[in-house]
Amino acid sequence: MFRDDTNQILKGLKQSPLRQFDQEVGQIPGIVKLTLGEPNFSTPAHIKMAAISAIAANESHYTPIAGLPELREAAANYYNQKFNLNYTAENTLVTVGATEGVSASFQALLQPGDSVIVPTPIYPLYLPLIKLQHATPILVDTSADDFVLTPERLQTVLDQHRQDHVKAIVLNAPSNPTGIAYTRSEMQALAAILKQEQLWVLSDEIYAELTYGQKHTSMGELLPEQTIVINGLSKSHAMTGWRLGFAFAPKDLMAEMLKAHQYMVTMPTTFVQYAAIEAMKHGQNDCAPMVKIYQRRRDYVREHLQQLGFEVARPNGAFYVFAKIPASFKGDSWEFARQLAYDQKVAVIAGAAFGPGGERYIRISYAASDEALAQACRGIAKLMQHTQQQPLTEAL
Ligand SMILES: Cc1ncc(COP(=O)(O)O)c(C=O)c1O
Repeated sequence: MFRDDTNQILKGLKQSPLRQFDQEVGQIPGIVKLTLGEPNFSTPAHIKMAAISAIAANESHYTPIAGLPELREAAANYYNQKFNLNYTAENTLVTVGATEGVSASFQALLQPGDSVIVPTPIYPLYLPLIKLQHATPILVDTSADDFVLTPERLQTVLDQHRQDHVKAIVLNAPSNPTGIAYTRSEMQALAAILKQEQLWVLSDEIYAELTYGQKHTSMGELLPEQTIVINGLSKSHAMTGWRLGFAFAPKDLMAEMLKAHQYMVTMPTTFVQYAAIEAMKHGQNDCAPMVKIYQRRRDYVREHLQQLGFEVARPNGAFYVFAKIPASFKGDSWEFARQLAYDQKVAVIAGAAFGPGGERYIRISYAASDEALAQACRGIAKLMQHTQQQPLTEAL
């Protein structure tokens, strides 16, 4: 490189291990990929038509920085109705996917020297973004509590870090990678402490519509004055590639986030915003048929894995099963994932990619076809059969 004094924090960050592995094993011919959080459904037709109409109508100009007023209002109404929230258009920012909303939030909230509590295992988006603000993540391994951050644990961690200027916490429920959706009482118990401790909450609720047998409780309902709710169309409307998300926050903080957003992206693509208006006004039920199918697939994967000796975390949300590799497999989760990919042509993500607590686990995305899931279960069964036979062969 011409000079070597580029951003040292960025230099110290690695590419997402998740995407790296996905790309690596993508080269294996005939591989079945259950790696990325990518719905295998198509975007609902009425939303696609709205985008096509917007293009035909030459909706090709800049919109206001915060997004189209009609979209901000429709989004606030949509999520208010679904999750008992009380937001207006003024609390609403239209973002380039949930990812940009998370980034704008940290830019608005954090200063050098701040710390942020991050329960793990967790989706590997937040840590690099926290570090880029010269802030420090405090990782809290939740594996001993079945991957739920308990109020007792939160209180202990806060007491241990009184000197560290803890400013915020990241919550992601339903969770990627564990598939755990917090119950209302679990959320309330955390909210009580967070209120008392006056912490900001970055609540990534991108999987809020994907719950099985329970309804999502939003931190935006329980702690509206100190929460940023992140949501979007990627998962609920099978629109990952459209890059359309939302952030909801108290008005004063929103004014700060708006600046971060402006200097990063200006705004999301105009015709995508028109498609999003359609989703928010007429797509309230788009996710329901997907949820039914996901639930059936989840049951299928969970049962098969349990029969093979995997312990499965309570999978009542999102579209992931987080499964503990049986002790008969001696390697770590990356070795398991590599063997499964190269020997059985099935790709899953090693739990270690999601931080402390995930080392003995694999994450399987069941946002995939029935055939792919059946093939994956057969591959895992074969790998387990092979590992169980190993000691016998060695003994002979
Ligand atoms: C927890 C979580 N947050 C955010 C994202 C990214 O969402 P988007 O594609 O809308 O940026 C994902 C994607 O997998 C996710 O799992």
